[in-house]
Amino acid sequence: MSDDGPAPDDVISSRISEIAEREGKRVQLCGWVYNSRSSGKLHFLEVRDGSGIIQCVVYQGEVAPEVFEGCHQLPQETAVVVRGRVRADPRSPLGYEVGVEDLEVVHRSAEYPISPKEHGVAFLMNHRHLWLRSVRPNAVLRVRAVVIDACREYMGREGFLLIDAPVLTPAACEGTTTLFETDYFGETAYLTQSGQLYMEAAAMAFGKVYCFGPTFRAEKSKTRRHLTEFWMIEPEMAYCDLAGNMEVAEGLVTHVVRRVLCECRCDLEALERDPAPLERAAEGQPFPRISYGEAIEILREEGSDLPWGSDLGGDDETLLSRRFDRPVLVHRYPAQVKAFYMKSDPEDRRLALCVDMIAPEGYGEIIGGGQREDDLQVLEARIAEHGLPPEAFAWYLDLRRYGSVPHAGFGMGIERVVAWLCGTRHVRETIPFPRTLQRLYP
Ligand code: 4AD
Ligand code: MG
Repeated sequence: MSDDGPAPDDVISSRISEIAEREGKRVQLCGWVYNSRSSGKLHFLEVRDGSGIIQCVVYQGEVAPEVFEGCHQLPQETAVVVRGRVRADPRSPLGYEVGVEDLEVVHRSAEYPISPKEHGVAFLMNHRHLWLRSVRPNAVLRVRAVVIDACREYMGREGFLLIDAPVLTPAACEGTTTLFETDYFGETAYLTQSGQLYMEAAAMAFGKVYCFGPTFRAEKSKTRRHLTEFWMIEPEMAYCDLAGNMEVAEGLVTHVVRRVLCECRCDLEALERDPAPLERAAEGQPFPRISYGEAIEILREEGSDLPWGSDLGGDDETLLSRRFDRPVLVHRYPAQVKAFYMKSDPEDRRLALCVDMIAPEGYGEIIGGGQREDDLQVLEARIAEHGLPPEAFAWYLDLRRYGSVPHAGFGMGIERVVAWLCGTRHVRETIPFPRTLQRLYP
């Protein structure tokens, strides 16, 4: 006997995603019954294993009588181990099916609440722990995993060091109105809104860093773009200005879109997502850059009466995105609508050196960031103006005392990006267990 692998007719444990490599071979699949029907001497079982769905055909003449009997009326989600031979089948979406030789029922499922018929979103969200098994959530969450992996890959390749930011913090980063408060042994602590301030410290230690983790906003807004818990990737760079920051943001998004187009074709198809708009973002052509002032002009042409000085709302972003066929970078918003740490534009002090990236097709802001104030006195004044407690920011001010340099960074919301890539209207579908104003269950 040689030891170069299994003998020709041995049963190979397989996942459905690798079934094409197993044509003609005998495999063992561990999964769940997704659907089944019977006709006389045949049972057709659609079996899923988390990597795909395949039709398994049980023919009376090819299995033991008790196995054939046992396959009659198997409830949806019954756990099964199937052994059989893979054969090409041009009629199946996968191109293959399994001729069953043996089947073991591991657990006969109780009546499953999610049937292939249409259910309302509230019902599905209440059953999110089960809904995860369906085709659509499967596809979206696979795209999410690729997005996250692509972000890490890009950051690593570009020389950024991963630095984890704390979740429990003594102070606000993005303003005090959306803080989740908790008791910290008699002191007040807050769930982090952003790892940015800590990344600024880390950038002075390592040059180029990023964090990736959950962030929290007690958002009272019920929009399709807001979660109370969402995941953000936040690069921060020493010796970097607004222009350099925009280049990194553009490079990151282009890389993420390319990888999703390359690795998630089947998932995008399952979601009926037209890939054409994504292909434009993946071309490698620069994304348009416009100033806030130019954005206001475009909005006026589109019929909006947003006054200069107001922040862009979700509807304004949607209106704006109609003008562009790829993500657009909007820079230099009025400082008054932005956070305390933004550096002001030396050319026009009313403006902040900040940037938002707005996704096409009305998916809204996917990135927010900018150049940070690096001058001690200006920053002290800013903290006072914003009514923030100076003690909590003492360490942050230190960064402006010891070798302060121009620096910049941004945060990209993973769920917003996944919503755009998958074409899901609401961000709640893009995170395994969403937390919103009205949802903390399951
Ligand atoms: O624009 P934001 O608030 O920026 C910051 O937090 C900066 N401190 C980041 C930085 O410079 N390091 O948030 C950044 C991104 C937004 O563009 C959006 O994609 C996402 O985070 N985001 C949300 N996603 C889902 N639900 C919410 N409530 C979100 N709030 C922000
Ligand atoms: Mg923002």
